Amino acid sequence: MIKDFILQKEFGYLLDNKWVEPQSDKYIDILSPQDNSLVGAIPSLNEDEIDKCILSSNKAFLLWKDKSINQRTEILKRVSQIIRDERYELTNLIINEVGKPYKDSYDEVMRTSDIIDFYAEEGRRIFGDVLLSESFPGFGKEKIAITKRVPLGVTLAIPPFNYPLNETIPKIIGAIIPGNTVILKAPQQGGITCMVIGEIFRLAGLDDGVLNIVSGENNVVGDYLVRSEYIKAINFTGGTKTAIHIQREVTKREDVIPVMLLGLSGKDASIVLKDADIKKSVTNIAQGAFSYSGQRCTAIKRVLIDQSIEDEFIKELVKEVKENFILGDPKDKNTTIGPVINDKAAMYLNELKKDAIDKGAKIVLEGENKGRFIYPIILSNVSLDMRIAWEEPFSPILPIIKIKDKNEAIDIANQSEYGLQSSVFTENISDAFYIAERLDVGNVQINGKDSRGPDNFPFNGVKKSGIGNIQGAKYLIESLSRIKTFVINLEDEK
Ligand code: G3H
Repeated sequence: MIKDFILQKEFGYLLDNKWVEPQSDKYIDILSPQDNSLVGAIPSLNEDEIDKCILSSNKAFLLWKDKSINQRTEILKRVSQIIRDERYELTNLIINEVGKPYKDSYDEVMRTSDIIDFYAEEGRRIFGDVLLSESFPGFGKEKIAITKRVPLGVTLAIPPFNYPLNETIPKIIGAIIPGNTVILKAPQQGGITCMVIGEIFRLAGLDDGVLNIVSGENNVVGDYLVRSEYIKAINFTGGTKTAIHIQREVTKREDVIPVMLLGLSGKDASIVLKDADIKKSVTNIAQGAFSYSGQRCTAIKRVLIDQSIEDEFIKELVKEVKENFILGDPKDKNTTIGPVINDKAAMYLNELKKDAIDKGAKIVLEGENKGRFIYPIILSNVSLDMRIAWEEPFSPILPIIKIKDKNEAIDIANQSEYGLQSSVFTENISDAFYIAERLDVGNVQINGKDSRGPDNFPFNGVKKSGIGNIQGAKYLIESLSRIKTFVINLEDEK
């Protein structure tokens, strides 16, 4: 059934559980990054159409919030079942739409159905607290407070292109479990997967208006939505530049700002100390840097290596990559690295590479580099005056920077404007914690690659990498709800 839905070439927008044809004949073509073939087209909506969605979401909120958590999570079982049943269709769609290799696309689908099941369970375990006035100086037993979590209202989900299913679904379910409604603004690349998500929730029987889906030009649809005073939370994953633009638009509102959950760019450093297990570090760093062509916010984007083991590390890393990465057609099950998302990404990589080479970097690994199909590139002799030391390429290029000791590693890692994740490889747990404590990031991996999962773990960034917990079942549900407190005043208890 999903197959026929995917096969239509022009998609409508989702309003009150109905697919509506846009007023104008303006569509945005989604082309496959692999060969520019047309995957489908999503509508370019106008403000009037967005207003209809906002009003529908607000109306639906008044009914949805009054349902029990049990009723709200019941629907999710059907959603995850449909995703499992349609796993091959969804896998093929992700491959076509964003060029992700077969295995990674399939894993994304299965991981998403597990996320839904887990969130549904977790939602049932979100309770409140009981607080006693007698705990605070000057009070006796006269007051008891009971807290519970209540929804925020209409939330806006803006997912990125790189995990069109897996980054989008938590933004929906993390909001609807505590009683919010959602307007999903589909990204341009990945937008068709978002439309399919809408169809899955519709088939599963989600109430009208609880999920509305819109698409269009960012400076029309996106800006209009974030300025709307009906939107009580904005859950955005994407680049820092776009987030700063969103913040500026939000401040044009006349009311107080909404809850902002931002998962943004990163320049994750992987620190390898001289006592590290080289095999473990190269296996993890190769995967962490190059899987899905480095198009992950948590991709390892620089290695800070102890100078005494640099030669051995590079030799092993090059060997590891050559043995494990096959560039090619993402539909081919043997392919481990497909195209980058668009020509702009490929051009940016080449620009950073040229700047580094002009300033003295050496290429220690490079393969086929044809248009968007780029084999992993490893650069050594990278110095801090090179752009590749600081900028986020979002493509398969990895700079290696030498360090004298752990303090220099911390210093260089923290000079970045970003603070998403970092990893530390060492056999000395005290050194690992010494470094982890001092890194200015949301999450430090000790002897493992940078990664968001498993999806019950919290995930957040600091500095220009974001704000708020944007993932991690319990943490996201809490971020998308607020505490309401009921105080019982007792008499004669002082
Ligand atoms: O693009 C950012 C993603 O949240 C990274 O997720 O660590 O599961 O690949 P991942």
